[in-house]
Amino acid sequence: MHWINALAIFIMIGSGWKIYNDDILFSFLRFPDAIVIGKWAQYGLQWHFFGMWIFVLNGIAYFCYGIVSGRFWRKLFPVSPREVFVTVGEALRFRLRHDDLTHYNAVQKVLYLGVMAVGVLIVISGLALWKPVQFSELAGLFGSFQNIRLVHFLCMSAIVAFIVVHVTLALLVPQSLVAMLTGGPALDQELDAGDRDVTLTKAPQ
Ligand code: HEM
Repeated sequence: MHWINALAIFIMIGSGWKIYNDDILFSFLRFPDAIVIGKWAQYGLQWHFFGMWIFVLNGIAYFCYGIVSGRFWRKLFPVSPREVFVTVGEALRFRLRHDDLTHYNAVQKVLYLGVMAVGVLIVISGLALWKPVQFSELAGLFGSFQNIRLVHFLCMSAIVAFIVVHVTLALLVPQSLVAMLTGGPALDQELDAGDRDVTLTKAPQ
């Protein structure tokens, strides 16, 4: 689901930038042709609607699986503000511990929860942009069509900022990238009755 999402996001950002170029929001910002998807704006829109189905269906599958399996609560909660504070300090001093890849630190939890919330908002604002008549009540919440565009654009900017941090951190801890490609380190699936944490074992030879 992670890599399907990466592909979908790539399509959504590239095609979104093409659509943006057709009617810019900021006079100083226009995306170079080399990094947009779609030869003309209407092709950009078609790519956008194609990517939309992948992004949304994959997202629904991810949320359903996360909730039903209990993975969400296990991996993303609780988040304590104190822990966030300490982990940010460690990250700034490049002292983040990453000996257990199956455990998210507090900064990861906050970033993942944040980007999921932005993902939901970009879909909601996208729906309002796509069908402003059918979803007129939803569109009305934003005040004007230009406001919806702005919210949609700011969500995209937040996702791009997240990707920069996310990819940088993943490159700094290369074993996490390997784990994401191979399915992760071998796990002893027996869940600890206390905190339902998964314990790490040595990979079988
Ligand atoms: C999945 C639900 C989504 C739907 C239904 C949707 C729909 C749309 C529509 C209809 C437009 C054209 C707006 C206009 O006419 O000006 C648009 C623009 C755009 N979309 Fe999406 N979108 C979705 C998700 C995303 C995602 C995930 C991204 C990027 C991460 C994204 C980035 C953009 C950008 C950058 C624009 C150009 C903003 C503008 O100038 O209006 N969209 N989207």
